[in-house]
Amino acid sequence: MNKPIPTLILIVDDDRTVRNGISDMLSQQGYVILQSETAEAAYALITRQMPDLIIMNVVLPGMDGYAFCQQLRQNPDTRLLPIILQVCQGDLADRMAGFKVGANDYITLPYPPEELLYRVKNLLSLTQKPVPPQVQSHTPGRITAIFAAKGGVGKTIICTNLAVALRQISGKRVALMDADYSFGLVGVHLNMSTTHNIMELIPIIDDLDQNAFQNVMVHHISGIHVLLCPFHPEEAELVTAPHIKKVLQLLVEQYDEVVVDCHGSYDERTLEVLEMANTILLIIVPEIGTLMSTSRFLDLVTKLKIPPERLKLVLNRSDSKVGLEVADIERALKYKISYKLVSGGREVTISANKGIPMVTSTPNHPLSLGIKQIAEDLLKP
Ligand SMILES: Nc1ncnc2c1ncn2[C@@H]1O[C@H](COP(=O)(O)OP(=O)(O)OP(=O)(O)O)[C@@H](O)[C@H]1O
Ligand SMILES: [Mg+2]
Repeated sequence: MNKPIPTLILIVDDDRTVRNGISDMLSQQGYVILQSETAEAAYALITRQMPDLIIMNVVLPGMDGYAFCQQLRQNPDTRLLPIILQVCQGDLADRMAGFKVGANDYITLPYPPEELLYRVKNLLSLTQKPVPPQVQSHTPGRITAIFAAKGGVGKTIICTNLAVALRQISGKRVALMDADYSFGLVGVHLNMSTTHNIMELIPIIDDLDQNAFQNVMVHHISGIHVLLCPFHPEEAELVTAPHIKKVLQLLVEQYDEVVVDCHGSYDERTLEVLEMANTILLIIVPEIGTLMSTSRFLDLVTKLKIPPERLKLVLNRSDSKVGLEVADIERALKYKISYKLVSGGREVTISANKGIPMVTSTPNHPLSLGIKQIAEDLLKP
């Protein structure tokens, strides 16, 4: 049997203790480590032995990390080399500067070793050639659409966590589609530094086979595969309802569970998703504006001939104590609330900023447990 090719990681840092610490931790995980004290030495090393990933401090003697990153991006051989930059605590300007020169990810000093490991695995999984999942049965997958009649109520938080929870609980093939074509943030919430997205499918949509499709699905460290929204918002209008229908047909052929983060509009593309969905999780918050819009949407559901049993109402931030009780909301909407999710406080923002879903980072948080409960119910036969 052939031995697997080891993954080479280059650490560029002038502090020997830091280099050795990272090296020990990553070596224990089976990675082969190369080390350099300076950017210049690292460049000389790369010309002899190309690593699979670089972790480098922005502060280096001689050429700094930004300039080195820029240099690597200008060279066709190293243009796509995955780079994680180490920046100083809380320095947003450092992070922004890192992304501008083409770094894929950053980590803020000081950090727990497991965070670096998570980021390394995540970035490597994104840059590896995707292998088409084995199609084990011909039973089409299930579509769960996350929709809200008003923006900003928690669709993306719930969607990303739900997809990861479905995967964690069942080990099944799970796909997550960002159907907020202009300003989707699924990639940000999952810390996915890639430009692969749905736009690559549009020119070949009529001849799309599973292999071409798989080249665009981005693999997340959690095991879910993600179809991201257009990288440039101005391309969003090129995605049409027939495109979405075809994409969803392919997704259910290849995955057991398909979770869709819908845009909060009633355009044809969203309606296509809602009509094809087995379950629609309709997200609301205890706030009068959202409830008014939701009430109108529920009227529309009847006109669209969507069977009401497919619809499940999810009350997000149910513990907000803003003077609207569950019973009031149910009476006003003439609909039962199926799930209540609590406000997650700063943990929600921390997890979004880090790009690590709460069901992974804080699995026992009441919000994580609430989302896992929805996943468990969806998985029931
Ligand atoms: N249960 C919760 N507890 C605390 N904060 C929350 C909760 N749900 C959502 N949020 C916060 O509300 C904001 C909006 O969440 P999110 O982006 O998931 O909403 P959305 O419905 O996808 O918005 P959009 O319509 O813009 O796509 C975010 O700042 C998020 O952190
Ligand atoms: Mg969103």
